[in-house]
Amino acid sequence: MIICSLGHSDQLARSLAKLLRAAYSRIAVSHFPDGDIYLKYNCNVKGKTVILINSFQPEPNWALYASVFAAETAKDLGAQKVVLVAPYLAFMRQDKRFKTGEAVSSRIMAKLLSNCIDKIITLDAHLHRYRSLKELFKIPAVNLTANSLIASYIKKTVSQPLLMGPDWESSQWARSIAEQIGAESAVLEKTRHSYRKVTVKLREKITFKNKNVVIVDDIISTGSTIIEAAKTAKRLGAKSVLALAVHGVFVEDAYKKLKKAASKIVTTNTIRHNSNKIDITSLLVNELKKKF
Ligand code: R5P
Repeated sequence: MIICSLGHSDQLARSLAKLLRAAYSRIAVSHFPDGDIYLKYNCNVKGKTVILINSFQPEPNWALYASVFAAETAKDLGAQKVVLVAPYLAFMRQDKRFKTGEAVSSRIMAKLLSNCIDKIITLDAHLHRYRSLKELFKIPAVNLTANSLIASYIKKTVSQPLLMGPDWESSQWARSIAEQIGAESAVLEKTRHSYRKVTVKLREKITFKNKNVVIVDDIISTGSTIIEAAKTAKRLGAKSVLALAVHGVFVEDAYKKLKKAASKIVTTNTIRHNSNKIDITSLLVNELKKKF
């Protein structure tokens, strides 16, 4: 087995290689003067299982392209198998044609990857209209969850937490984590008006007064969802608000804006960011120890 990083997940790839006692190599990816992608393996992959580590943020389009090039090249160089570890898998939110003529990005991404890799491993993929990655990928696809790590983080750091899901989709994180730690939970009703504008409503009868609210979501992108949820929690009397997400994408000035709305921001290290406080490496190590 050889662990090959494609750039954005270099640190994670090195830790994985160390813990798995496997070889590590960084794939060189750059551009020709005209902008065409240039990719080069700096190791011998012949007869080996190549584990590509590539989180799809920042630059999700580049990440997809680089993954396809790296997988095709590995096979061309004689690799036995190619496994893609994408701690954050982009394109999943465009899971239907919302407007006539739109591309269903999740299906295209899955088709491109299914044609060149043998297995994909990701974490807390955005599953909304699909129930499982099996509905998307033609190859074995593993969707790990950071729920147990998030649950222990909350248990260790927040007293008497109230778990809040900002929308219906987030209940798979908020409710499940609340159950694991025996905490109360509430899920808001969200209406998305545009990419950057959402409104949320609390329909459940639950008191927030003097509670330490932990908002849990899979992704923080523009921050609109979690900021609205944080404001609602405060308005309802929360003592503190912890904004917690698996994948901290933080586009534009989302992080700065969220800092004003929440008492604390925490993410896992599926995407490198200052807010990374929960390390998901052990989940990947356990998965990569299994037979392919
Ligand atoms: C949506 O269903 C997701 O679970 C997140 O709530 C959403 O992707 C967050 O996006 P934003 O930060 O742009 O509101």
